[in-house]
Amino acid sequence: MKASEIRRSFLDFFKSKGHTIVPSASVAPLDDPTLLFTNAGMNQFKNIFIGLEEPKNRRVADTQKCIRVSGKHNDLEDVGFDTFHHTFFEMLGNWSFGDYYKKEAIEFAWELLTEVWKLPKERLFVTVFRTDDEAAGLWIELTDIAPERVMRFDEKDNFWEMGATGPCGPCSEIHFDTGDLTSQAQVFDDPVEGVNGENARFIELWNLVFIKYNREKNGALTPLKEKHVDTGMGFERVVAVIQNKNSNYDTDIFTPLIDAIARLSGIAYSENGMAHRVIADHVRALTFSIADGAIPSNEGRGYVMRRLLRRAARFGRNLGLQEPFIYKLTSILVETMGDVFPEIVERAQYISQVIKSEEESFNHTLDRGLDVFAKIISKLEESASTEISGEDAFRLYDTFGFPLDLTELMAKEKNLKVDVAGFDKAMEQQRERARRAGKFAIAITQDPEEWDALSAGHHSHFIGYESLAIDTEIRRIRQEKDMVYLTLSETPFYAESGGQTGDRGIIEGLGFQIDVMDTQKMGSHIVHIGRLAGEFPRKAKVKASVDVARRLSTARNHTTTHLLHKALRDTLGRHVSQAGSLVEPDRLRFDVTHFQKIEPEQLEEIEGKVNEQIQKNLPV
Ligand code: ALA
Repeated sequence: MKASEIRRSFLDFFKSKGHTIVPSASVAPLDDPTLLFTNAGMNQFKNIFIGLEEPKNRRVADTQKCIRVSGKHNDLEDVGFDTFHHTFFEMLGNWSFGDYYKKEAIEFAWELLTEVWKLPKERLFVTVFRTDDEAAGLWIELTDIAPERVMRFDEKDNFWEMGATGPCGPCSEIHFDTGDLTSQAQVFDDPVEGVNGENARFIELWNLVFIKYNREKNGALTPLKEKHVDTGMGFERVVAVIQNKNSNYDTDIFTPLIDAIARLSGIAYSENGMAHRVIADHVRALTFSIADGAIPSNEGRGYVMRRLLRRAARFGRNLGLQEPFIYKLTSILVETMGDVFPEIVERAQYISQVIKSEEESFNHTLDRGLDVFAKIISKLEESASTEISGEDAFRLYDTFGFPLDLTELMAKEKNLKVDVAGFDKAMEQQRERARRAGKFAIAITQDPEEWDALSAGHHSHFIGYESLAIDTEIRRIRQEKDMVYLTLSETPFYAESGGQTGDRGIIEGLGFQIDVMDTQKMGSHIVHIGRLAGEFPRKAKVKASVDVARRLSTARNHTTTHLLHKALRDTLGRHVSQAGSLVEPDRLRFDVTHFQKIEPEQLEEIEGKVNEQIQKNLPV
């Protein structure tokens, strides 16, 4: 059977068992802050499990696009080294929302595997959670699996959780003995020992999770009102098994990609392997995540994508591919998977553009970075050291754009390690330098709690949206050289945040005046920073007035960032998002993520749209 037929037969099977077939959710979820990427088929049903949402259908099935490169489920380090882990994969799943439970889940799974797909029973093993007598009993009673092949494991293997919080429960896995006694596979006297071991011979195919708890933030397990079934089968793995291949990369899911990589590079898969596998894997993750609205960038989800792309680009160099090439592979996915996932067809051109421009930008520094890496290695060899220093790893990162994990991977190839703590320290130092360079020089060395108190009570209560000048009291104050730092009980001064600069203005009392030059937050304190004229304040009572014209100009520029954001999205596309901003009285800066240079005509169009809104003089 072809991969596409296998996918179809899974869905048809569950349809015949009363399941509604639903589409895959986005692989880049936009509404769940606990997830960078969809990591399991059940993610989109999370709220149904925990009782926040009513299911439309009690039985559903689908194939879900998943990416496991961060958080609790992360397979990145295995990709390429073995033949059955992927960053991007399809998870075939069937669900019962408060409908059937363990009995049917087990019966369905066994019927599909052994009767529809006719997998040899003597190669199947199942596992259950150590205390789950019910599931163990059902396997023996309902199926003809040999009883000694029903094995028990503890939480690590047989209690499935989505992440740090969320629905979870004991699970039962089905493993397949590939019988592969070659290469990385191992021989076991007792095959049972191989299941759940670190080896390439026994492969987990399908996980049946019996969801009945929610893991709370405080770690507690709360029983759910209803019991549910959540299953997930590795599509690429089951295709390898059914097509009788020892490697997922030998199935027709991957061979078109592998062949194209061999063609582009002139290096056969059999000559290298690892590079072909990594590139084939990563281009899938990139294509599908970009289709679903994600974009390579410097942080969060976008940085995960950038890391994948840079790893793939570097493996391209191993195959002698000097020019951007990953983008050329996307059309193969469009051809082979576009019928099941039409989003990659609709956005085909955009996907390849994004990848190409990202490849181009890394290409500028990749070769020089590789030279520097080679020099670092030869120096280490001379000194017989086995660890790349944190500073070297940081230089590769900062100057040549090598993500830390790429440096680690290249070090691993040479049997070397990277001083990660040293890297983190160098990163922190650089952030600190940037902070110092970019800000009004404040030298607050002490916690405001420790300054001279002129009065007592609540402090730093911000009222600057209602009034810009008020009578108030100094709470705490200190002097350092010619600057004073003070906090007030109530203050109309806006402290720098969200990219908007801190207010300036005047604070005056009996015998003194403070020209406030900046306002900053320090923990819960709003700290006014300025120059003192007159005596050092002894009395708390003051009048605090914000420089109104400056504040209004700043506020206008802040509003303009929102207009600009909208105009950028309308002109360049929905993927454009804010990466940072600076708002001052006489200017604003707005950083955006976009995959290529913005052309002058586009800038003009954007400017026009913003001005059009401003000219309407709408109330804010
Ligand atoms: N949610 C389960 C898993 O991802 C099926 O393994």
